[in-house]
Amino acid sequence: MSKMPIVQALKNYIENEKAPFSMPGGKLGRGFNEELKEILIKGDITEIEGLDNLHNPQGIIKEAQELLSLYYKSWKSYFLVNGSSSGNLTMIFSALREGDKVLVERQCHKSIFNGIILRKLRPVYAESFYSEENNMSLGCELNTIVKILDEHKDIKAVILTYPNYYGVCCNLKGIIEECRKRRVKVLIDGAHAAHFGASGRLPENPVKLGADMVVMSAHKTLPSLTQGAYLHINDRDLIQEAERYLYMFLTTSPSYPIMASLDYARGFIMEKGERVYDMLLNLIEKYKKLINELGIVKCIDEKDLFNSEFSFDNSRLILHLTDVGTSGYKLLEYLFNKGIQCEMADDRNVVLITSPFNDEKDFQNLYIALKQCTRKDITGKNIKVPGHTIPKLAIPPYEALNSSLEWCSIEKALNKISGDNIVPYPPGIPLIMMGEVIDKEIIDKLNFYIDNEVTVLGVASRKIRVIS
Ligand SMILES: Cc1ncc(COP(=O)(O)O)c(C=O)c1O
Repeated sequence: MSKMPIVQALKNYIENEKAPFSMPGGKLGRGFNEELKEILIKGDITEIEGLDNLHNPQGIIKEAQELLSLYYKSWKSYFLVNGSSSGNLTMIFSALREGDKVLVERQCHKSIFNGIILRKLRPVYAESFYSEENNMSLGCELNTIVKILDEHKDIKAVILTYPNYYGVCCNLKGIIEECRKRRVKVLIDGAHAAHFGASGRLPENPVKLGADMVVMSAHKTLPSLTQGAYLHINDRDLIQEAERYLYMFLTTSPSYPIMASLDYARGFIMEKGERVYDMLLNLIEKYKKLINELGIVKCIDEKDLFNSEFSFDNSRLILHLTDVGTSGYKLLEYLFNKGIQCEMADDRNVVLITSPFNDEKDFQNLYIALKQCTRKDITGKNIKVPGHTIPKLAIPPYEALNSSLEWCSIEKALNKISGDNIVPYPPGIPLIMMGEVIDKEIIDKLNFYIDNEVTVLGVASRKIRVIS
């Protein structure tokens, strides 16, 4: 039989099942009942009689989307079969016009930046509050947003992530109030928020908080197939435009298994959300206490965030290393070798995404692995990320995209305009975006990251692309 590398790799992965503390929310199929599993395989069909049309829903898809809207309390909601990325593009194209000025969180997902470039918008970036104590960016502070809105009266919309990858949520209620006063739209990338509001112990769902448009990756936290996502609209005036762009960005061959899983995920959370999330959060609380007693890591709680303006998704487990000389990357690797699949790491933290389909055995395995962990297992170099200021924008990103570029050594790039987004991981915040001026501070920071062997996207052999 011919070699099938992907088939083989997945077979191996399934045979060596790890405790699933990463996406997707369905956790290795545990979240799907037997009936749905059969539908997911045998229901891979296309739009035939009686199965409606995602691009013009009049039957079962319309009904399922109405139930979705009812649950999340939107004006109208839609299924997305190409992930939140397609939802973010739809949101940006439908709420804004070419040339509009937008306030954007500097640490948004790349699909937001892609939307800004393609829609030819003029971004004003808002600095994320970086907590050195937590070694993570928490998000945008209300004051930062208000200051920018007051300085730029022509801003049409604010685009924010809620929550970020660490499960940290900005003061969205306060931000929405300020935007309302100024008639500025609020567009939310809630890729990690599909389960919000299911229990009073979770942050509120951003649709209910009053955001104009919200995108959610159902697949990240709910029992939906990967790529399954939702788009919610709260402003009736945006519906027509949203549908126009939605049907441009969506595939014309939508996957019925993904749509069925989106319907199933909504049904699941609507019927059982409160109960199962309360059970999950009890389990997490119990194991956080036990893990903290081991002394090797500290599980982050809302009270540990070094800025009280922010709140926390209690379903996210962040293992924070307090000991200098221990590394989050090493801990992630150690846990992987012990059969624990985590979502990601930075220098000082390991992030675990849980869902109601993580059972007590998963948490026990995590606890045992941490109990067996010695300092030697996780010893590694620490890199103190330098502070960050947003560089000056010389030309809008879409103009930079259309310009001719040349490779240039970092040292010779002083005062030139960047042709790429240059992003060090960690912290994952763009150091410079296309169209911005490369100053001395940027050059020093780039050299710092490279000398410390930090991965920097957009740099090759100490060269970057600039506008020629
Ligand atoms: C904050 C955020 N927004 C958007 C996306 C894109 O979501 P999707 O993979 O569903 O397209 C991601 C993916 O990780 C994300 O973390």
